[in-house]
Amino acid sequence: MGAELARQLAKKHCKLALLARSKDKLQALQEELQSKGAHVEIYAVDVREREALEQAIYSANERLNGLDVVFANAGVGVLKPAHQLKPHQIEAMIEVNYVGAINTLLIALPLLLEKGQGQLVGISSIASIRGLPGGALYSSTKAGLNTFLETLRVEYRRKNIEVTTVCPGFIRTPMTADIEDSIPFMLDVDKAVAIIIQGVELGKAVVGVPGWLYNLVNLMRFLPSELYTRVASLRSK
Ligand SMILES: NC(=O)c1ccc[n+]([C@@H]2O[C@H](COP(=O)([O-])OP(=O)(O)OC[C@H]3O[C@@H](n4cnc5c(N)ncnc54)[C@H](OP(=O)(O)O)[C@@H]3O)[C@@H](O)[C@H]2O)c1
Repeated sequence: MGAELARQLAKKHCKLALLARSKDKLQALQEELQSKGAHVEIYAVDVREREALEQAIYSANERLNGLDVVFANAGVGVLKPAHQLKPHQIEAMIEVNYVGAINTLLIALPLLLEKGQGQLVGISSIASIRGLPGGALYSSTKAGLNTFLETLRVEYRRKNIEVTTVCPGFIRTPMTADIEDSIPFMLDVDKAVAIIIQGVELGKAVVGVPGWLYNLVNLMRFLPSELYTRVASLRSK
């Protein structure tokens, strides 16, 4: 999703700084986009390493002449019954999806405040809305991210900082390659990213991807816990 965001934003003539761990993939994407005239900085960084992340974001801020929009997109998804999760999978989801996203956004925030404006975007998930079988850790890291983003939104609204929470359903990316066959409403990544960019440009508080699925799943919030438990547990094996 990050690579597709870069491709579509480059078409809109945005200058880009891309962060991920895989240097070779970043370099390939940089070459692809630069050959089409885009300005692309790359940083091979793990969002769990705060110091290196800070250096990368500060460097991007300098080289791009200030940051306008910062996406916290890095994520790890392991969907399986909670008792089957391995300790390293639990740690990875908490440290990348939650702590890594918070690190990214909080390192960038002072730079945006200094500039007097900007937008923070967190890639959450429709799976964050209520507990689903197989999503105990993944969903709760994204639910935590939602509350973090909502708090930033109210805290910094009057300081000209927009905060957008993106809640995708299932999108066709390497993350979902193993479960593709079993999932209804799987969206192609180019369509998903077009929806995300449109929502971000409008400065929306929450962007559902697609919107209709987000609204439908969001209705489940109003189900009393007893009833929700009965309905949702029908899917667990
Ligand atoms: N696909 C879906 O159906 C779906 C649905 C809802 C939400 N989401 C969320 O959307 C975001 C993107 O997911 P995706 O589907 O594009 O997954 P993906 O294809 O697995 O890509 C994950 C991206 O995160 C980067 N990343 C992972 N761990 C990292 C780390 N420790 N430090 C820095 N970068 C790291 C990866 O690059 P490196 O491996 O090179 O570091 C890769 O670019 C995630 O936050 C995911 O939870 C996805």
